Amino acid sequence: MSDLNDNPLQVAALVGSTRDGRFGPVVANWLLGQIAQRKDMDVDVVDLVETPLPTVMPAFGQQLSDEDMGLLGAVAPRLDAADAFVIITPEYNHSYPAALKNAIDWHNPQWHAKPVGFISYGGISGGLRAVEHLRGVLAELHAVTIRNSVSFHNYGDKFGPDGKPLDPECDIAAKALLDQLAWWGQALRDARAARPYTA
Ligand SMILES: Cc1cc2nc3c(=O)[nH]c(=O)nc-3n(C[C@H](O)[C@H](O)[C@H](O)COP(=O)(O)O)c2cc1C
Repeated sequence: MSDLNDNPLQVAALVGSTRDGRFGPVVANWLLGQIAQRKDMDVDVVDLVETPLPTVMPAFGQQLSDEDMGLLGAVAPRLDAADAFVIITPEYNHSYPAALKNAIDWHNPQWHAKPVGFISYGGISGGLRAVEHLRGVLAELHAVTIRNSVSFHNYGDKFGPDGKPLDPECDIAAKALLDQLAWWGQALRDARAARPYTA
């Protein structure tokens, strides 16, 4: 089995909201702090505001424009390089944002046989409905979703001015999620290396 201390898992953290004034980066920064404390994973934050993707797909068999190739080229290699993902998502109308679905749909093999964990936030539901919708979508893409998640219910009350959650239990919950992600990430990385996954 590969050693995660010598060869850390490459985790792509996908920030799912692109709204002006969005809260997502606060949650992403907290996650970065949690991962920075670990030796078994490195993180690449893929922020869909910094790397927007086209919203119109070509007809089947048709080439992408140079512009769209450029936009995709800024994201796809980073998802390719990932051994595991964390998706940070708010809840929009009982699901997850359109920009996140668009980013998922533009990619396919990048998701195969890789684990995905979730951190969600929203009103009373804490974004849990968004997460449950994502689980079904990602199963179609041959990804493995992680059982534990971290959710911030009524998120506006849950973070201090320093951008950290007020409740210390949140760090414990993040560790449980990341421990599970590391287990699956290591197992699936080794499995893909031993026998390429065929979808
Ligand atoms: C279009 C839209 C729909 C929303 N629908 C829900 C919802 O169904 N459930 C909920 O808990 N919060 C909902 N909210 C509130 C968001 O969870 C909250 O505004 C959050 O800050 C959005 O994340 P963002 O700031 O990163 O964009 C909605 C917000 C928007 C903009």
